[in-house]
Amino acid sequence: MSEPISSSLPTRASGPGGVAGPGGVARVRPARDLAGTVRVPGDKSISHRAAMLAAAAGGRVTLEGYAPGRDAASTLACLAALGVAVTRPAADRVVVEGPGIDGWQAPAAPLDAGNSGTTMRLLLGLLATRPFAATLTGDASLCRRPMGRVVEPLRRMGAQIEGRDGGRRAPLRVRGGALRGIHHDSPVASAQVKSALLLAGLFAEGRTSVREPALSRDHTERMLPLFGVPVRRDDLTVAVEGGRPLRAPARVSIPGDPSAAAFYLAAAVLCPGSRVVVPGVGVNPTRIGFLEVLEAMGARIRMRIRDEAASPAGDGPTGPVGEPVADLIAEASDLRAVAVGGELIPRLIDEIPILAVLATQARGTTRIRDAAELRVKETDRLRALAEELRRLGARVDEHPDGLDVHGPTPLRGAACDARGDHRMAMALAVAGLAADGETAIVGAACAAVSDPDFFVNLRRLGAAVDGPDDAAADAVRATGTAADGAIQPEGSASP
Ligand code: S3P
Repeated sequence: MSEPISSSLPTRASGPGGVAGPGGVARVRPARDLAGTVRVPGDKSISHRAAMLAAAAGGRVTLEGYAPGRDAASTLACLAALGVAVTRPAADRVVVEGPGIDGWQAPAAPLDAGNSGTTMRLLLGLLATRPFAATLTGDASLCRRPMGRVVEPLRRMGAQIEGRDGGRRAPLRVRGGALRGIHHDSPVASAQVKSALLLAGLFAEGRTSVREPALSRDHTERMLPLFGVPVRRDDLTVAVEGGRPLRAPARVSIPGDPSAAAFYLAAAVLCPGSRVVVPGVGVNPTRIGFLEVLEAMGARIRMRIRDEAASPAGDGPTGPVGEPVADLIAEASDLRAVAVGGELIPRLIDEIPILAVLATQARGTTRIRDAAELRVKETDRLRALAEELRRLGARVDEHPDGLDVHGPTPLRGAACDARGDHRMAMALAVAGLAADGETAIVGAACAAVSDPDFFVNLRRLGAAVDGPDDAAADAVRATGTAADGAIQPEGSASP
């Protein structure tokens, strides 16, 4: 039996961290026979990089398949505030036009990265090379996240950066200038650290190289050659030479986001009688650890690599951003527990919340280790998962760097809290599909940070989901987009 929703509903729309933002309660009931095709948003990581490189290169670049969520909009708003003309003729198409990084202007107000760590860290790398001062800030969650990991090496390159807690937390004030290339041995496998330094290195003197302890997503390395910059890789070290001119392509085509796809695939796997197809998803090996784990758990999941004709820009399975693309098909499956750790972790770092949900229904104990990075994501995801999944009846032990999830355990509908974290909201919603009775997810509207249509898509697949109410979702979606005037509607761009 499930508890009455009203008696267990948390009173705040945000978690213990007090993350600000609109709430919106989603109510999810048990589902079966989910069926259909879901188009996922364009890849968020690739979208940020494509927009920043286009703005740095100059000229006119059309970004096809640009991520529709709030995070990617934060990047556009920041670029607009630096004097880059950004128009959005369609939700998934963005045109970036400007003089290139030498024409960027000192922003009149602090640049707001919202909830987006990628916006803040990568943009800091580029701003560190500019001869003006800029302030980068974000929401309460982002201002708690560690920035020292990028600030320290950028300072070694010659940038002046100040901030809260000695520059370890935002807001950060950066005054850049002539940087010199360095080698950085990163203690964490972080694509944001690696990318921030490579972007700074493009405009620094000499070579900038980064070594990471395990390979994190390599979208920046794959995209730079498209902008005319060769990248050298030697095992876990990657390097660029400064001072090469950037050449912008006319068009960048962005594949579907595998991290968004993961939630729909998991829903299909968990709900009896289901079959869901997600076409056109980026399947870069540094992003699909989740698919490998699903397979090891015994899930019925298939990947159909796209042939030339089917690829988004008609240029083959390796698309124009150097990213392979596939259609993914998942069906309801019996699962067994797995152990996940080591080099796999950076390749599924954003999928651990949904993996933990799947593990509640797998036979045996799923052990997740080497994942301490989850403690410094949008919320402390290890704590949040342990506490919120327990509310649904799951048996979860929290470890300093991971979780043990014991399964299979029947889940029972209850109220739980997304804690201002988009991936928590979506993971809990999928858990609700597999639970008895009704699950209420408080603060569910934050799903729009990465997938504004998440709840609509669940309904289209046949799930009984109410809310979150549109006003709450719209409020999240609108931040940093046309609604605040940062991004101009088509036709009104000024360089
Ligand atoms: C991202 C890198 C990862 C990931 C985040 C996006 C990126 O963060 O969790 O969602 O676009 O580079 P870290 O680099 O901090 O691991």
